[in-house]
Amino acid sequence: MNSDEKWSRRRAVEVHDETADGFFAEYRGDNIFDSPFRYGRHFIDRAWVRCVSQLPHGATCLDIGCGVGAHMARLLDQGFEVTGIEPSAEMRRLAAKNVPADLVSDGSVLQLPTPDSSIDFVYAIEVFRYLDTRDNAQGHREIVRVLKPGGIYFGTYVNKWALDGFRQLSQLRMLARRVTGAPRRYHVEFETPSSLCDKLRAAGFSQVKAQGAMFAPLRVLHKLSPRLGAAASRLTMAHETWLSDHGPFRPFAGHLIIIARR
Ligand SMILES: C[S@@+](CC[C@H](N)C(=O)[O-])C[C@H]1O[C@@H](n2cnc3c(N)ncnc32)[C@H](O)[C@@H]1O
Repeated sequence: MNSDEKWSRRRAVEVHDETADGFFAEYRGDNIFDSPFRYGRHFIDRAWVRCVSQLPHGATCLDIGCGVGAHMARLLDQGFEVTGIEPSAEMRRLAAKNVPADLVSDGSVLQLPTPDSSIDFVYAIEVFRYLDTRDNAQGHREIVRVLKPGGIYFGTYVNKWALDGFRQLSQLRMLARRVTGAPRRYHVEFETPSSLCDKLRAAGFSQVKAQGAMFAPLRVLHKLSPRLGAAASRLTMAHETWLSDHGPFRPFAGHLIIIARR
């Protein structure tokens, strides 16, 4: 393991210990237009719900990086068997407010404490983005290992060319930090739909499909003015499928969603 790898793994957890309360608060809010987090999550949720609707009754589910347990609680309500893996102690503390604490274990996608071919549905929402390329590959192989044949994987990633300019901004920040010596906050792994699909096939997934979600410039508008962001979100809402998931536009969406089977 090189030192950069160690750093990205460690920061992926530390940054969530630092921000866990903010996540908990976002999930408590119900207006999707006044928060780019909730607006983006609305579309991730829509795709996630479609996967859940394909599961057999009582299916076994694994939430990787389950955070405050919001998705686990929904699966439990619907009668599914669900467990979560969460390396951040603060996130686990808050997850215990949403689901029974013994359903969430400390652990990592890099070494899942789960038997081979035992899970119908594995999902990792906004997790792989914090890990570097080698850890992404290792985590994907672990998911293939624990999924039953035909089992479903749902994951979200960061689009390299998202129209909010996140990657370009990150590069500028990195440059500024090199000059000032200020530390980087965490690693961001950027992907394109086609190269990510190739990586997932190489890890052993089949029927890999990429989906774009959220018209990314909304994030910039929200930063400029929350009222402007909210007003623009109301306008884009009805056109999201076209703006974010229409073939040529997919690489520019704010979220990159993967749905695959073992
Ligand atoms: C942005 S949060 C998302 C939480 C939750 N999935 C959600 O959508 O609300 C990312 C989560 O990944 C967790 N995480 C970080 N490194 C991880 C690893 N190696 N394995 C599994 N989860 C990890 C973090 O602790 C954090 O809770």
